[in-house]
Amino acid sequence: MPVKIRQKVEPLLEALSILQEVKNPSVLGNLLPSFGRGFVLQLGRRDEATHMPASHSARFDWDYSSDFPEMRELYRRAKQNQWDSEVDVDWSVDVDPLNPEVPLLPDEFLDLSVAENYGVKLSATESRRFKKDVASWILSQFLHGEQGALYAAAQVTESVEWVDGKLYGATQVMDEGRHVESFHRYIDQKLEKLYVINDNLFTIIDALMTDSRWDMKFLGMQIMVEGLALGAFGVIYRFTEEPLLKEMLRYVILDEARHVHYGVLALGDHITQRLSEKERREREDWVFEIALLMRERFMFWEVYEEWFAHKLTRKQWRECVNEMPGMREFRQVMFSRLIPNLRQIGLLSERMLEHYDEAGLLKYASGASALEMTEQEFLDALDDDHADELTEQLV
Ligand SMILES: [Fe+2]
Ligand SMILES: [Fe+2]
Repeated sequence: MPVKIRQKVEPLLEALSILQEVKNPSVLGNLLPSFGRGFVLQLGRRDEATHMPASHSARFDWDYSSDFPEMRELYRRAKQNQWDSEVDVDWSVDVDPLNPEVPLLPDEFLDLSVAENYGVKLSATESRRFKKDVASWILSQFLHGEQGALYAAAQVTESVEWVDGKLYGATQVMDEGRHVESFHRYIDQKLEKLYVINDNLFTIIDALMTDSRWDMKFLGMQIMVEGLALGAFGVIYRFTEEPLLKEMLRYVILDEARHVHYGVLALGDHITQRLSEKERREREDWVFEIALLMRERFMFWEVYEEWFAHKLTRKQWRECVNEMPGMREFRQVMFSRLIPNLRQIGLLSERMLEHYDEAGLLKYASGASALEMTEQEFLDALDDDHADELTEQLV
């Protein structure tokens, strides 16, 4: 099939196959409109702006008394740990993304040996440019995710029922604004290449923004998108040798660990004490399907289209990415952060264990949840023991 036609047909076939993977009919029905806007209409890559209609209620509280001490404590910590990207991060660092002495990502991270088996060979210069593009792609998706987090945090701040949750939420809105500012500045000034939002991420964000239930927004953004992003930030933080990126990620990770903590606190209470069993099961099915969809998030399709569309099929590329040691690590760390949080908030009941096991995700269930670790402990773990384990496996 000619490459031009293949490039049009293959993404649609792939979208269909992703849809077929969603086994639960009610989750499928819930996701379908967003899926249509993301994968079929590709609204995220068509225009400069997209409007996502939101319909949720803002809950006013006329009492104002503190009603959730742990959340109030998190709010205090968040106020004390505010930082200013313009002042605290040293933007004067000269970043050369093509310099092999200071790699954005280590060579092993994006090993292309599977592509070589299919006859693709990059020169040393091409390889450096390719890696720079992948780094730009990953950071661009982080930036788009941060924009989603900013609006979701604002919506949830309106809707959430605890006064302490609203106060905390206000700090998160500020945090996410700062993350958008920081990632955009890095991409714009240091990498000079911004990629469009990936269809998969667009679909998930669209589903969250348009759902009227605050806890679904919360689940999707605080637990799923933020949880996975936190794992991804952690891996890049650990492996990048570029000092500015590392410094910026350090600040962002401390904020994000707090956000996930907030999500687990709020939802644990809500899901186990306020929802009916039917509602709880609905959410349990939903997070499982979203977890599977998220696994598809990091395939770098736009980089593939630039570099390899005329040399490799999408199936071959998928195999290639799945086999990259860094990407295996990526998935592992992301899910090892996510699954314990699902357990903690009551969304990993007996009936789901078999499904997680089949998907190869059950092994992560016994890890520490966000409640069992402060944000500083999370960062320290990346800096020492766990990081050493990762290094051994990767290098
Ligand atoms: Fe963020
Ligand atoms: Fe966040």
